[in-house]
Amino acid sequence: MSTAQHQPVIQLTDARKTYRTGEIEFEALRGIDCEISEGEYVAIVGPSGSGKSTLMNILGCLDVLTTGSYVLAGEDVEQLDEDALAAVRNKRIGFVFQQFNLLPSLSALANVELPLVYARVAPNERKRRALAALARVGLADKAPNRPGELSGGQQQRVAIARALVTEPTILLADEPTGNLDSTSTEDILAVFDELNREGRTIVLITHEHEVAERAGTIYNVTDGHFVDGTTHLTHMAVVAE
Ligand SMILES: Nc1ncnc2c1ncn2[C@@H]1O[C@H](COP(=O)(O)OP(=O)(O)OP(=O)(O)O)[C@@H](O)[C@H]1O
Ligand SMILES: [Mg+2]
Repeated sequence: MSTAQHQPVIQLTDARKTYRTGEIEFEALRGIDCEISEGEYVAIVGPSGSGKSTLMNILGCLDVLTTGSYVLAGEDVEQLDEDALAAVRNKRIGFVFQQFNLLPSLSALANVELPLVYARVAPNERKRRALAALARVGLADKAPNRPGELSGGQQQRVAIARALVTEPTILLADEPTGNLDSTSTEDILAVFDELNREGRTIVLITHEHEVAERAGTIYNVTDGHFVDGTTHLTHMAVVAE
């Protein structure tokens, strides 16, 4: 990843998002400027309703800005139609959610294979890559188990494997440890540390201070904009001590 290490992979300029509900408008993002480099590990913190998930949905190409610009890996996302947006999302972004969002009737392996089914990867190749992704999160032995047979932390690791199996540039995680106890939280954070060391860009939303401190950069969101106090930590090992 050395040559691309400091290229901005995410560039938001005066990003604004207004939701309309009937007659009522609500400005959820009120002019965010932000640049995230390839290989950066970013935490977004802020009170409930401040716009964190809205921002994440924009970054993940699940939604579009009302005004402002979003350039993802050099591509002006605002210019793309729905299909092109989906293609960018599938190619570049892996998502991890607070509720895991695994399909309960499928094995861990089949859950991880799903994005490759959508990408029309052949069955043998699918299985090989899904097993490798499960091994990366330390769950090779749980491949046949359904989500209901796994602990919360293990389910979240399956969800991370599913997010990784397409080899996305960016991993976006919205409260990934929100439903987990401290031991499982540590397991998940160790996986994120490792992925970041390999050069993966990570953006995570969290309410938990100790989770945010694992990141290299912390952005504080309040009322739809970044407030002072954004922290650029030089090295996470310093924080972990
Ligand atoms: N689809 C929508 N339609 C209308 N308003 C919305 C919509 N989604 C979010 N909002 C509003 O936008 C604001 C920001 O919501 P968002 O979900 O981004 O907050 P958040 O920071 O993620 O909060 P939390 O920490 O509780 O998850 C809130 O006031 C919310 O009510
Ligand atoms: Mg949210």
